[in-house]
Amino acid sequence: MAATGSEKQGGDGVNSFYVSTPIYYVNDAPHLGHAYTTVAGDVLTRWHRQRGEKVWYLTGTDEHGQKIMRTAEANNVTPQAWCDKLVEEAWKPLWEHLNIANDDFIRTTEKRHTDRVQEFVQDLFDKDQIYKGGYEGPYCVGCEEYKLPGDLIEAEDGTKLCPIHKKPVELLKEENYFFKLSEYGPKLMEFYAANPDFIQPESARNEIVNFVKQGLQDLSISRSTFDWGVPVPWDPKHVIYVWIDALLNYATAVGYGANQEKFDGTFPANVHLIGKDILRFHSVIWPAMLMAQGLPLPGKVVANGWLMVGGEKMSKSNLTGIKPQDLTSHFGVDAYRWYFLRAIAYGSDGSFSWEDFSARYTSELANDYGNLASRVAAMVGKYFDGALPEATAAGDAERAVQEGLARAVATADARIGEELDFQGGILAIFDFVKQVNGYITEQEPWKVAKDTSPEGQARLAAILYTAAESLRGVAVLLNSVMPDTSQKLWDSLGAEASLGALADQRVQDAGRWGQLPAGATVTKGAVLFPRLEEKPA
Ligand code: MSP
Repeated sequence: MAATGSEKQGGDGVNSFYVSTPIYYVNDAPHLGHAYTTVAGDVLTRWHRQRGEKVWYLTGTDEHGQKIMRTAEANNVTPQAWCDKLVEEAWKPLWEHLNIANDDFIRTTEKRHTDRVQEFVQDLFDKDQIYKGGYEGPYCVGCEEYKLPGDLIEAEDGTKLCPIHKKPVELLKEENYFFKLSEYGPKLMEFYAANPDFIQPESARNEIVNFVKQGLQDLSISRSTFDWGVPVPWDPKHVIYVWIDALLNYATAVGYGANQEKFDGTFPANVHLIGKDILRFHSVIWPAMLMAQGLPLPGKVVANGWLMVGGEKMSKSNLTGIKPQDLTSHFGVDAYRWYFLRAIAYGSDGSFSWEDFSARYTSELANDYGNLASRVAAMVGKYFDGALPEATAAGDAERAVQEGLARAVATADARIGEELDFQGGILAIFDFVKQVNGYITEQEPWKVAKDTSPEGQARLAAILYTAAESLRGVAVLLNSVMPDTSQKLWDSLGAEASLGALADQRVQDAGRWGQLPAGATVTKGAVLFPRLEEKPA
């Protein structure tokens, strides 16, 4: 049985937890849908870094193929010039803006990629896995994919349309090179059976198992009617099919054929994050390509649902003009990172609405979380001159909060770190925030403060210590989702001086009670979630 992501062998004995996003087509600027997958990967990888693991987070751009070529032509520039411009002016700046901590950014026009793609394909040819043949069929340039007749939908006038792009397909007839994909059906079925978690969610797995069960056709892996691609090494009149080129980024970016030590300690990916539209490529074609080379297979392919607008998959044409920056300028980057993962169960489709975002921002971020942080800092300032008091009078109510934090840590770690249930993890953390708010409401520290007896003051100290120490845990738990906010909270708790950098706090240790030392300097820092301005017209 082929190995999966957990069985890689790094030279130094330490293997990376390797996560990838799809590499995005640069025919246009990024939209909310692209950012959704990339933010999810960023949260997942930050979470694993916060566990102390070695991590590799890869993203990049898919720059070859007919779609890009046509876009460049329509704009009167060369495809390379078009790609360079979009990458430098739109894609990389957005990831920086959204605070994405990727370890590498691969472009499929880079030599480190194209050379290795040629080697890989030549190798398959030498192993007799590729042959020359003819093909005729409907092609969707939006998907860059030959469609099966049964996949198509019909317009009212009978025109055959791509079910994803809702645009007419083009009938193509070409002499191409073919990969013997059909031979891999039984091996793939065996692999899916032995690795029930390989494709997630369950609905995606079922779709693929049913698809492969019906038998696979060989795959056309070259195109000869245009030249914007990587030349087929033994027949340069052909270029390598853009999807074969693109999938190989997951290998070339981590040293395939170039840096064996890096490759062995990183490849294969533990998690390929993708949208459900590109499931067959990642869970059928990609594993078959790896099987053909005897390379290990990825740990998981996890498909997210679509962000929808007006009941349709959000895309360039129906975006109604919303860019990620239009939302971040209003709600802030951290709230943006939080919102989509909080509001939509990962794996399901979800709609975006400005009203829903505003309502959740105000109730969950500003009122529940932001106010808690500012009230606690204000009370430590007012009653203890900003020096965190020692908790000597802790009782049942305090123990319940301590247990709440431990529970939040365990649940969030399982949901986010293992199950990629970002919504479930975030909810567990915010349930704890609500618990702490409830605790403060019940304990009424502002009333206890009026009791100047030593018992009264000890009680007040216990309440405020409990609240501040809870926030210490929350800052660590939310660091992967909202890193800037967590840092502000960390600073306001005076935690850096005694506990060190926020990034060095381990998730596994976040539930251990009593880490903030008495005497820590608590300051009322910046407001975590400022009141929202009026919605722009
Ligand atoms: N270039 C290929 C991927 C190659 S990976 C080896 C591609 N690019 S894409 O830019 O068209 O889309 C990439 C991904 O963007 C989708 O699979 C999905 O992850 C994300 N999304 C694009 N639109 C989306 C939504 N409306 N909603 C959620 N994600 C969507 O396909």
